[in-house]
Amino acid sequence: MRDLRLRPSATLRLVGKPTVLIMAAGHGTRMRSSLPKVLHPVCGRPMIHWVIEAARRAGAGRIICVTRPGEGVAEELPDGVEAAEQTTGEGTGAAVLAARDGIGPDATVVVLSGDHPLISDELIRWMVERHESEDAAATLLTTDQIDPAGYGRIVRASDDSVERIVETKYPDQVPPEELAIREVNVGTYAFTAGALFGALDAVAETGGERYLTGVFPLISQHGGRLVAAKTDDVLSSLGVNTRADLMEVGSHLNKQLIEQHAVNGVTFASPETTTIEADVEIGKDTVIGPGVTIHAGTRIGEGCEIGPHTTLIDATLGDRVWIAHSYLVDCEVESDAKIGPFAYLRPGTVVREGAKIGTFVEIKNSDIGRGTKVPHLSYLGDADVGEESNIGAGNVTANYNAATRTKSRTQIGNRVKTSVDTTFVAPVSVGDGAYTGAGSVITDDVPEGALGIARARQKNVEGYAERKEQEASDEQPGD
Ligand code: UD1
Ligand code: MG
Repeated sequence: MRDLRLRPSATLRLVGKPTVLIMAAGHGTRMRSSLPKVLHPVCGRPMIHWVIEAARRAGAGRIICVTRPGEGVAEELPDGVEAAEQTTGEGTGAAVLAARDGIGPDATVVVLSGDHPLISDELIRWMVERHESEDAAATLLTTDQIDPAGYGRIVRASDDSVERIVETKYPDQVPPEELAIREVNVGTYAFTAGALFGALDAVAETGGERYLTGVFPLISQHGGRLVAAKTDDVLSSLGVNTRADLMEVGSHLNKQLIEQHAVNGVTFASPETTTIEADVEIGKDTVIGPGVTIHAGTRIGEGCEIGPHTTLIDATLGDRVWIAHSYLVDCEVESDAKIGPFAYLRPGTVVREGAKIGTFVEIKNSDIGRGTKVPHLSYLGDADVGEESNIGAGNVTANYNAATRTKSRTQIGNRVKTSVDTTFVAPVSVGDGAYTGAGSVITDDVPEGALGIARARQKNVEGYAERKEQEASDEQPGD
């Protein structure tokens, strides 16, 4: 075996920041997806980002992700994380070999699986400490606290040392006594680099794959010390191989995130029906009702009431905002505003302090001024509405000219009162304090303080009903 350094003395060991390798190549056939496994989102972030963050918090030096060319994973790695391409061979052993360049034989190498998004930084640190303090050549984490199906089983010798790891991806090929073992390989390891790479070179392929787990008997046969560190950390131990696993880790993480916000002073009326992603801020004394979904990038102030049944995507809310049964995307709602029930705020919308957007109202790329109300059944797109105005029921901006394929803005001033069923054919403006008449199609600017009325004058045809009745009876066939 090349480069196999079995028992480096503690003094030779480069104790410091370990190099972390994260195995992240492949689609994961059991995911049945065109998206590589480690890019599947878990609470709003690609799975691999959670593992990288844990590695960083655990004090990693270099972080190297093993990816396959053309899969698109390397492109999604955060700054400062290196990608090593796995161009030859299949399996976790081939993945680790792809990252060996530039790693000195005495370095401590932590190997993580990119499909364990809930791996904890504390557990990684604990493992590295044990690895270094016990002068091990290889340390692996094991657990007997999860359903062992599909995981590598730990076969121990009579003296309790780890003899080998039996893979159970194809359980019909595994003897029943080995399938009965509950202790599994978590897939999180610390190695002394020389021992790792030397042994890996000698691991034979099984079914076309080189298994990383094949190194343990070899390291031990060559006198390297193996430490199997057993953990009760169930969440860290959960690997994602199927979409059912993905659901399981997602719901655990969702619960954790909700608990963190709750500890910070947020009330969740129905945590089991709330979905929350990472990178969300919520101020204290805010109450989140049932059926609320809050996506990454959303900021919510203090004392807000959100829900029931509301979705917030990249929304920024001030304090004391009230929202029910609504859908908000990439928009800003200032303090004391009220939204819904059943409102849709689209990108580029700003709702200023104390404004109200009511029932069945859609707003897009518009600025709704302080204290202004748009209470019922309206669509405002590309509009700027001033302060303390009132938009009547069923007002619509005709912001798109289908003939010229251009969009134009509607300007509505301060203290304007538009009546029901007003249509604004943009570009058009309504001055401060102006009114519009019910059913008006406003095509020309309305000056400050004026009434803009644009509809046909009503005409009543007297005696119409009587005349129609007479005509009908004249036409009846005789008996
Ligand atoms: C692996 C372990 C198993 C352990 C389990 C824990 C092996 C042989 N088995 O099994 O003992 O109980 O993890 O979850 O290591 N990968 C690559 N390149 C490849 C193949 C895989 O980078 O060629 C990456 C994958 O993206 C994945 C990780 O390695 O993130 C683990 O691979 P996976 O196929 O999921 O291994 P398991 O069957 O789960
Ligand atoms: Mg796996």
